[in-house]
Amino acid sequence: MTKEDRYKSLLPQAKALCESESDMIAKMANISALLHTTFGFWWTGFYRVAPASSPSPKDNAEDHVLILGPFQGPLACTRIPFGRGVCGTAWKERRTVVVPDVEKFLGHIACSSESRSEIVVPVCKEDTVIAVLDIDSRELGTFDETDRRNLETLVRYL
Ligand code: SME
Repeated sequence: MTKEDRYKSLLPQAKALCESESDMIAKMANISALLHTTFGFWWTGFYRVAPASSPSPKDNAEDHVLILGPFQGPLACTRIPFGRGVCGTAWKERRTVVVPDVEKFLGHIACSSESRSEIVVPVCKEDTVIAVLDIDSRELGTFDETDRRNLETLVRYL
């Protein structure tokens, strides 16, 4: 089965899971499990954009941070600032970031020394990034255009 075939069968399942549940944490938990078990990634999960401390009336990105959400895989760092690491970069630049070799990404945050390549996809609601989907692989160059396109479709179901 090709990677494209796997996504073809996974996307309708992901859509059904998201349509039958309104709670974002529950949806993120099942989407992480679905991706992780389908592809056997090293780490699959979400970081949510959340207030860095107590909620402030100001609503700019500097008051917020990425906080660890539902995931599958080994323990991970819990907070990532705006613009930091692959996740913070995808949040700041509001675009998917594909990293074929994490050692060549300046500022990569190594939650696990096993991780060799990574993809981070922003999750947007009404033009605002509310979370990122982060996937790590133990092999170099795991993620490509097929992953980017299919994962961008998937996060729109959330
Ligand atoms: N490598 C990420 C940090 C999160 S872990 O991979 C789970 C980054 O550079 O943002």
